[in-house]
Amino acid sequence: MSKAPVRVAVTGAAGQIGYALLFRIASGEMLGKDQPVILQLLEIPDEKAQNALKGVIMELEDCAFPLLAGIEAHSNPEEAFKDTDYALLVGARPRGPGMERADLLAANAAIFTVQGKALNKVASRNVKVLVVGNPANTNAYIAMKSAPDLPAKNFTAMLRLDHNRAASQIAAKTGTAVGDIKGLTVWGNHSPTMYADYRFATINGASVKETINDQVWNAEVFLPTVGKRGAAIIAARGLSSAASAANAAIDHMRDWALGSNGEWVTMGVPSNGEYGIPAGIVFGFPVTTTPDGEYKIVEGLEIDAFSQECINKTLAELQGEADGVKHLL
Ligand code: NAD
Ligand code: LMR
Repeated sequence: MSKAPVRVAVTGAAGQIGYALLFRIASGEMLGKDQPVILQLLEIPDEKAQNALKGVIMELEDCAFPLLAGIEAHSNPEEAFKDTDYALLVGARPRGPGMERADLLAANAAIFTVQGKALNKVASRNVKVLVVGNPANTNAYIAMKSAPDLPAKNFTAMLRLDHNRAASQIAAKTGTAVGDIKGLTVWGNHSPTMYADYRFATINGASVKETINDQVWNAEVFLPTVGKRGAAIIAARGLSSAASAANAAIDHMRDWALGSNGEWVTMGVPSNGEYGIPAGIVFGFPVTTTPDGEYKIVEGLEIDAFSQECINKTLAELQGEADGVKHLL
């Protein structure tokens, strides 16, 4: 018997990440090749954006995806989020050259207050929310605080792109296949202060830290390369990352919904006090996920002095961002 369709809301659906994301959701890459989906797409009311959304919908129709059980176009979040099981909050202003993601806080924070309230009012009571729009951790925090009737743990921020970037840098450094790298994580904020940590990672069972054995490379090449990769892409393309961001969103949601087979993945999730991160702060943690749609923060990892310093720095930045949006909450 075929499964009942689930509802997937995507905001910023006519933007560049939306264009790289929707076709993959509709083809079953996110929730499985046996899971029909209804896409509930949100764009701003502006005529140009709504027209662009119409064009994207025509293309989705023309793909004749067997799993695509319906498509809706919306300009009102309370309609777009009605009964939704999954919400991918992508719609927000991207940064341009010379900007930091935190510079977007003022421009984008209001969006996530409105959308958090709308989710609170109309979404499925178990909706799984992924915030992609920057600054992603603090936007997820704002949406979570604006939705007091929904489980806080269901509000997550995207650090999977950073996780994937870190894996790719390690594969290049060690001359190994990226798929053989396990046990990696990225702590903290999706910003240059993030701490990509390979101390526990392995390649085919061998320790990455021992294989690389170069703390200078870690501190002076690896961390800045991963942390500033978004800016490097903006400098090269003139636009922020889109296909790799959409790919990371698919990875994040797929692993959350279907399970990570015991592997660590990085998700930005509200802390319950793990590793001394104050409760409620949306922080990149190593997590494992199970096929029933739950995630669990990996606990008990040793935090050495260098790592603690990095974690303190990214936490301080997140606390500063949370202070900056207090008036909205
Ligand atoms: P884009 O400008 O191409 O598209 C954004 C779309 O969102 C536009 O079509 C816009 O009309 C729409 N939008 C704006 N406000 C909206 C609202 N209130 N409701 C619904 N739609 C709205 O940008 P993009 O390249 O697709 O990037 C989107 C966001 O994702 C940016 O904030 C970018 O910085 C962020 N991003 C995050 C990551 C990450 O790893 N977390 C990676 C890449 C990009
Ligand atoms: C990225 O990491 O590529 C995105 O967050 C876009 C940006 O502004 O860096």
